[in-house]
Amino acid sequence: MRVLIIGSGGREHAIAKKILSSPKVSDVFCAMGNPGMEKDGIQTVAIQEDNHSELIKFAKDQQISWTFVGPEVPLLNGIVDDFQAANLKIFGPNKKAAMIEGSKEFAKEIMVNNQIPTADYQAFTNYEEAVSYVKEKGAPIVIKADGLAAGKGVTVAMTLDEALAALKEMMTDLKFGASGSKVVVEEFLEGEEFSLLAFVRNEEVYPMVISQDHKRAYDQDKGPNTGGMGAYSPVPQISEATVQQAIEKVLYPAAIGMVKNDTPFTGILYAGLIATGAGPKVIEFNARFGDPETQVVLPRMESDLTIVLDDLINGKKPQLNWKENAAVGVVIAAEGYPGSYKKDIPIPNFTEDVTVYYAGVAGEKDQLKSSGGRVFLIEAEAATIQEAQTKVYQALKSVDTTDFFYRNDIGDKSKQ
Ligand code: AMP
Ligand code: GLY
Repeated sequence: MRVLIIGSGGREHAIAKKILSSPKVSDVFCAMGNPGMEKDGIQTVAIQEDNHSELIKFAKDQQISWTFVGPEVPLLNGIVDDFQAANLKIFGPNKKAAMIEGSKEFAKEIMVNNQIPTADYQAFTNYEEAVSYVKEKGAPIVIKADGLAAGKGVTVAMTLDEALAALKEMMTDLKFGASGSKVVVEEFLEGEEFSLLAFVRNEEVYPMVISQDHKRAYDQDKGPNTGGMGAYSPVPQISEATVQQAIEKVLYPAAIGMVKNDTPFTGILYAGLIATGAGPKVIEFNARFGDPETQVVLPRMESDLTIVLDDLINGKKPQLNWKENAAVGVVIAAEGYPGSYKKDIPIPNFTEDVTVYYAGVAGEKDQLKSSGGRVFLIEAEAATIQEAQTKVYQALKSVDTTDFFYRNDIGDKSKQ
């Protein structure tokens, strides 16, 4: 088989590497990909992810068996609809189904209509009405821009002043552009966060093992929100009963609800959850694999991902098996991220004890330099989270990371 992956980050590196490890696969292409992926034999393709007609032409010319979409933006731009209209096989939600990620209000309607536990909320387009609602509810309270804002359109306000400032920034100063002209104001949920992803085909749900992301830039969850600074799996402090509850009360009703809504979902459904005293509640749905969750979830997958996806695409029932081990992944970011950051930092080489998933890199594969904020992720597996952590941090200490920074506590929450 010859497979095309859309995307260019660490998540796509992990997906492409796993797919390429299958004996069924001869070639994996990644558009645009990044030069770090080439170290693992993944072939990069210089076609932008919004250039659907060129991607379709490439898939036809190269006799691609099927395409897999990593990021949300092409999904929301209708890449699945366009490939299917061209008679090409592709795995991911179509444009309408991707709205479960693209609009927080759409997602909330699906949740309310299907009794999926989530924070109480109200959506506003009128600034004054939003202000009076927030004043009435008081802090802590959560303010979210309705559209996509690359993970940065969320303010968890611990005081009323913070909440009002966030409303002003989003609704009148349009800090997140048009995505902030509508906001969702949400009840603050207290508890441990976890990510539960599943392969979904209409009403069918095949859950993966859970993981935990770290969105804040610095240790102990301090500093600004980022696209994710590291993840680990499993999450032992989340009980098996809580995970089962999330599968039954969140994933299945969401998949079935999307079918009932005439927006059936096929693809990767990602539930961002908080384990509250009253059970797991949804904070967000995504229509794709998480980044950096994928980099710790896929290494724990015992089954052949290519066969799983091929079965899903071809109407067969996939078989999913997971290893009983642990994986830890730490993101290495350029100094300054998520603000303006250094570029062209040389990338160190690591020993084979750890896996490197590249994201913001440029240059030749043997002379990589940083080009983005989140540059690469170091991942390791072991029998326990602690051992995996030790492998990752020892590898990081063995190289020069002067112009980079990373969190030193990825996985620590599992010990509390
Ligand atoms: P999101 O982009 O929706 O994942 O939100 C970013 C982060 O804000 C999440 O990872 C949570 O840490 C936090 N968050 C979002 N919604 C809530 C909520 N209702 N209560 C508490 N924290 C939240
Ligand atoms: N790790 C968060 C996300 O992928 O949205």
